[in-house]
Amino acid sequence: MAMLFARLRYVVGAFALVWLVALAVPAVAQQPTQINPTASSVKEQDLLRQLQRVEGRISIPDEKASVLEQPEGRSWRRFHEVTLRWIGAIVILGMLVVLVVFYLWRGMVRIESGRSGRTIVRFNAFERFVHWLTATCFVILALSGLNITFGKPLLLPLLGLEAFAAWSQWAKYLHNYLSFPFAIGVIAIFLMWIAGNIPNRVDVEWFKRGGGIVGHDHPPAYRFNAGQKGIYWIVVIGGVAVAITGYILMFPFYGTTIAGMQLAQIVHGIVALLFTAAMLAHIYIGTIGMEGAFEAMGTGEVDHNWAKEHHRLWLEQEMARTGPNESQRQPMATPAE
Ligand code: HEM
Repeated sequence: MAMLFARLRYVVGAFALVWLVALAVPAVAQQPTQINPTASSVKEQDLLRQLQRVEGRISIPDEKASVLEQPEGRSWRRFHEVTLRWIGAIVILGMLVVLVVFYLWRGMVRIESGRSGRTIVRFNAFERFVHWLTATCFVILALSGLNITFGKPLLLPLLGLEAFAAWSQWAKYLHNYLSFPFAIGVIAIFLMWIAGNIPNRVDVEWFKRGGGIVGHDHPPAYRFNAGQKGIYWIVVIGGVAVAITGYILMFPFYGTTIAGMQLAQIVHGIVALLFTAAMLAHIYIGTIGMEGAFEAMGTGEVDHNWAKEHHRLWLEQEMARTGPNESQRQPMATPAE
C-alpha cells in the first residue's frame, strides 16, 4: 500500500509539472506588447522601439540631461552625417567644376588695352591688412570646419586613429580661436566698404551687360561693381550668420535648448558650406580669372587701363580728385559712390 502511495505521488507530481509548463508557455506567448518604462528590468532597445526615446530620472536640476535618445536627435544625426555631406559635396565640387569649365571656355580676362605703366592706389595698407586677416582666418576656419563634416569618412581611413585624433584636436583649437579675428575682420569689412557697396542703377546695367566677364564688354562701374557688391554682402551676411551660430555652438546651452543647438548647427553648417563655395569663385576672379586683379590686394595699386576697363566711373572720380597726371599713392579717405 505504501508503495502504491509513493508511485501515485510521482504520477501526481509529474502531472503537476506538465500542467505548470503548459500554463507557462501561453503566458510567455501572451506577453503584453506594451512595456512598462519604469520597470526595473526594462531593456533599452524595447524602450526605444516603443517610445522612440530613452529618458531617465535624474536628481540634478538640468532637465535635458535626462534625455539619452530622442527622435530629433536621430534626425539631427542623419542631417549631420548624410544631408550636410551631400550639400557640401554638391556646392563645393559643383563650384569647382563650374570654375574649371568656365576657365577652359573663357580663359583669363585680359587687360584688353594692355598695361599703361601708370598705377593708381586702389586699397590702402589698412584695407589690405583687414582683407588678408579675414581671408587667412576664413581659409583656416573653412578647412578645420570641413574636417568636422568630412574628416571621418575621408581623412580617418587615410591617417589612422591616432593621427586623425591629433589633427582634429588642433583643427578644433584653430576653429575656436581664429573665430575671434575672423569676426572682427567681418565687422571691419562691413564698416570700411559699406559706402561703396550700396546697390544702385549702375549695377543693373552691369548685370545686363554680363559684367564684362562673360563677353568682352566693359560696363561702367564705380569703386565696386555689382559682382563685387554681391561678394561683399555674402561676406557680411554669411560672416554674421556663421559667427552668431558658431558662438551659440561654442558656448552651449546659454539660453538655448537641445532644439536650439541643433538649429544653430544646421544653419552654421549650411551657411559655411555655401560661403566656402562663394569664396572659391571670389578667389578664382582675384587670381587666374582676371589679369591685374590680384595687384589690387597685393601691392594695393592697379594699372590705369585695368581701372579704365573695370571701374571707369571710379577712375574718373579719382582723377577729378587728385588730378590727371598724378600717380595716386594717397589712400582714399572715402570710397567713391
Ligand atoms: C565667428 C566665426 C565662427 C565660429 C565662432 C565658429 C564656431 C564653430 C563651432 C563651435 C563649431 C562646432 C564644432 C564642433 O562640433 O565641435 C563649428 C563647426 C563648423 N564650422 Fe564654424 N565657426 C565660425 C566660422 C566658420 C567659418 C567662416 C566656416 C567656413 C567657411 C566654418 C565652417 C564650419 C563647418 C563646416 C563646421 C562643421 C559643421 C558640421 O559638420 O557640423 N565656421 N564652427
